[in-house]
Amino acid sequence: MKDLRSALELFKEANEVQVIKKEVDWKYELAGVYKKLDGKKVVYFEKVKGYDVSVLSGMLSNRRFLSLLLGVDPSDPMNIIHKLEEAYQRDVLPKKVSSGPCKENIVTGDKTDILKYLPVIHAAYGDAGRYITGGITITKDPETGWCNFSVHRICVVGKNKALLHIDKNRRLGMMLEKAAKMGKDLEIAVAIGVHPLLLLAATSKVQLKSDKFGLAGSFLGEPVELVKAETVDLYVPAHSEFVLEGKLTSRKFEMEGPFQEYPGTYSVVSPAPIFYVSAITFRNNPIYYAIIGGTESHILRGIQGEYAIYKAARAVSPIVKKVYLTPGSLCRHHAIIQIKKEHPDHEGLQRNIMYAVLGAMREVDVVIVVDDDVDIYDLEDVEWAIATRFDAEKDLLIFGRARSHEIIPITEEGIRTKIGIDATVPFDKRDKFKRAEFYDAKLEDYL
Ligand SMILES: Cc1cc2nc3c(=O)[nH]c(=O)nc-3n(C[C@H](O)[C@H](O)[C@H](O)COP(=O)(O)O)c2cc1C
Repeated sequence: MKDLRSALELFKEANEVQVIKKEVDWKYELAGVYKKLDGKKVVYFEKVKGYDVSVLSGMLSNRRFLSLLLGVDPSDPMNIIHKLEEAYQRDVLPKKVSSGPCKENIVTGDKTDILKYLPVIHAAYGDAGRYITGGITITKDPETGWCNFSVHRICVVGKNKALLHIDKNRRLGMMLEKAAKMGKDLEIAVAIGVHPLLLLAATSKVQLKSDKFGLAGSFLGEPVELVKAETVDLYVPAHSEFVLEGKLTSRKFEMEGPFQEYPGTYSVVSPAPIFYVSAITFRNNPIYYAIIGGTESHILRGIQGEYAIYKAARAVSPIVKKVYLTPGSLCRHHAIIQIKKEHPDHEGLQRNIMYAVLGAMREVDVVIVVDDDVDIYDLEDVEWAIATRFDAEKDLLIFGRARSHEIIPITEEGIRTKIGIDATVPFDKRDKFKRAEFYDAKLEDYL
């Protein structure tokens, strides 16, 4: 069975795990150490002050790690997108089982005390407190019964009380609104320490075949085993390290934040529903998983974003070859699309593609289209294309005031003007733009 522990073994075999043996404080110190290794290693903290639980982070902090988890060759980043494309075609439905490792310890009633069992970390100096960041939040639509899971930060504010942050246009927010209209609260389970590909499924941005458990099974190549929760009518991954169960208030809110958000800036304080925890279940010798601001969160959202824009752009035309959401734009806001014009009738399609990309992912604010002789993963090469092939009067497209992400400080509540940069060569002028070519000398033969 693929779970967090089997993923850890995979990373150990690949020599990608940095074990920190020295005891660290959950307050500031753990995150400070992690930040030095962010994007470079999976980090395993053996000892956290005041706890017998180890902490793990960084399993999705670069494309190489994701390639390893998906079993694809890391030398071409497009292999991940093609693997996702294949996985989205089918569903591997979850399997319900009667029990599982997450039931090895069960705490309910008065004994429910989040911070007694979970070494929840306080990451940045300006964060409002201790946040759970690496769990999947499982809920059911109160009208249809359809099950979904996503990633939401959760600020622990009491023994069995936490605040859960919901951005605009989230399925969880929509379910909570439905519950409010029905005069009910929403049952919720948070599974922490799941196989990292479940976190990848959680951030899916396109239409699903059944639900995200079916997609996660397809990513894993085997069904996710689900077990019934103790105090709510929900099913949770049986191999989770920890599960928190409870209710989310639909009509009562408290102020949550600030929190260091994905752009590296702090969120504004805003009302959040209250998560009253009714049970905690966990494995023996559990491992707590934390996502600590930065690349892991960027990669998680960025890869699904790349898949969504690739799908939309390819629907315009198969002249689309590669797509990339740049790291400088947090793998979210600047898209580079590589195309290959092979016929005069392909001229102009680059602009249709821009519209499709902007429509497929609301957070994309800049789309740059280049030809297939430009390496989209080399931003210097992309800049070269803009320097030599782009004329602002003719090739700059402005898309006025559409929705982006409200967390980006320059937006007005999420509204922002977007641009398209057409840095492709006009098909009938290809000769003028031909790149100089040189003999490919093997330097070792000459030195
Ligand atoms: C590390 C991480 C943290 C996230 N935190 C939040 C959050 O606090 N609130 C939120 O609304 N979305 C958050 N997201 C984004 C959603 O989980 C993500 O966009 C997901 O696709 C939403 O699922 P849905 O389309 O089913 O609503 C986070 C994503 C990641 C990867």
